[in-house]
Parts: sequence; C-alpha cells; structure tokens
Amino acid sequence: MNLKELMKGELNENEILLLKRSFDQIGTIAQLEIPKELESKEKLIAEKILKTYKNISTVVKKEDITLGEYRIRPVKILAGKDTTITIHKENGIFMNLDLNKVFFTPRLSGERLRVLALIKKNDFVADLFCGVGPYSILIVKFSKAKKVLANDLNPDAYKYLLDNVKKNKVIDKIECFNKDARDFHKLNADKVIMNIPKFSESFLKMAFDNCRIGGRVFYYCFAKEDELKDRVKEIKQAGNCRILKKTKCGDIGPSTYRWCIDFKKL
Ligand SMILES: C[S@@+](CC[C@H](N)C(=O)[O-])C[C@H]1O[C@@H](n2cnc3c(N)ncnc32)[C@H](O)[C@@H]1O
Repeated sequence: MNLKELMKGELNENEILLLKRSFDQIGTIAQLEIPKELESKEKLIAEKILKTYKNISTVVKKEDITLGEYRIRPVKILAGKDTTITIHKENGIFMNLDLNKVFFTPRLSGERLRVLALIKKNDFVADLFCGVGPYSILIVKFSKAKKVLANDLNPDAYKYLLDNVKKNKVIDKIECFNKDARDFHKLNADKVIMNIPKFSESFLKMAFDNCRIGGRVFYYCFAKEDELKDRVKEIKQAGNCRILKKTKCGDIGPSTYRWCIDFKKL
C-alpha cells in the first residue's frame, strides 16, 4: 500500500496530493519527506505508519539540509522508539548505522548490484568514499576480488564500517581507513569507486591517479539531463579515458539526477 492510499480518510484531498507516494525503510526506521504545508499533520502520518507496519519501530522525517562534507542528512524523530540507530539489510549484507551521524541511502541498492557484477576475479577495488561500507562489504562478500580498500573521512562512518566488516564476517580481504581520500596516491587499483557526487569534480585527478591504466572508475555526479555532457567534458579534461556507460541512479530534485559515469583510464 502506498502512503497516499494509507492516509485516505485521515487527510483531506489537497493534503493527500501534497504527500509523497512512498517512504524509505532503513532497517526498522521509516524515513519520510514531509512538505512544509503538511508539518502540522506529520505526527498523525507517523503514528499511522507505526500502527500499520509491524516491522517499523521508529518514524522519522528528513530535515531540509545536508551537513557539510560528510553529507549527513539529519532526521527528526516523529513517532516510536527514540533512536536513529538501526541495522539495515541490503543485498544479503547487514549494515549498522546511525542516520544522524553518517550518510546512507537505500536507494542505491540496485546500483550497488550493477557495480558488483562488474568486479572481476583478482580485482583490487578502491572504495574511497565508502560510508558505512555498502559497496565494499558487498564486493568482498559476493565477488572474487583480491582485495578491497574501504575509506571514509567521517570518523563515525569509519566506526560503523569496522563494525559492519565484523558483522558480515569479511575481515580477511578488506582494509579500512579513516583518511582524506586526497591522501591516497598511485594505488594502481583495477576499480575505483568515487561516490562523492556533490564534490566529484574536485576529486577527479585523484581518481585518475589511483586507477591503473585500463582500470575502471565509477564516477558519481549530480546533473540534469542536458548537463551530463559537461560532466563528461570535465572527466575527459582530467585525464585520458574512454567513457563506458552512463547510468541514472535516481533523482535528487526537480529534473536533477544522480548519475554514475563509468570510464576506463587509457
Ligand atoms: C555520498 S556519501 C557515499 C557513502 C557510501 N559510498 C554509500 O553509498 O553509502 C559520501 C561519503 O564521502 C565521505 N567523504 C567526504 N569527503 C571525504 C574525503 N575528503 N575523503 C574521504 N571521504 C570523504 C563522507 O563522509 C560520506 O560518507
């Protein structure tokens, strides 16, 4: 059942129109986006969700800001248990995380599977902005990669990463770091994952520097459809490469999308 259907009879027709069709579920937390006009009804909506879905114990709403370089989108608790910590299950791995201390979106689960499918036997993978580890742990667990380097600057993301590595029993083939990605040089990786779309351009040289010739970079960025050519131009100016694929990985605002541009370093 979608949220609009769920709230029929509780909200009037105009209010239903303003409501988003769905919400994200992260572990046992339902994460809503509430438009300004519906703020007076947010508790009512949250209580209804809590009552309806037995596997949800907390309902939160996303605040309208994203904080700094750690890309944290804070949430406010609307109903249920007073916690923003949960364990999320995705693609066969578990991730412990605190929504108010780390970046996490379940909306990239399909994209993570696409990347996983491109990892080859004996690959060395560098996931330089790994968050709590959804790409890195998935790759260690389900691919034949030789080694994964997982790094994030946010100390809380790093703490959860270490915990998740243990939880998923993937300690052997992963090395975890809590560094500025700019401190890595000449890693010679076969695959470089660059999931830092907001600041992607400033890390482009670094991506080239750490990828081996012939290796593949997964370069995430934000762009409208007609701006994508500019992103491609920036990549080509940063180094010698061939664009392999452009994947739309969800929308982030009116006609603005998160993309992954895969390129091969030549
Ligand atoms: C968009 S999030 C992606 C996280 C993760 N890959 C995921 O899919 O959940 C970007 C991450 O980059 C981290 N970050 C920001 N600046 C960084 C830097 N200079 N070096 C390393 N990590 C950084 C943030 O803390 C954040 O966790």
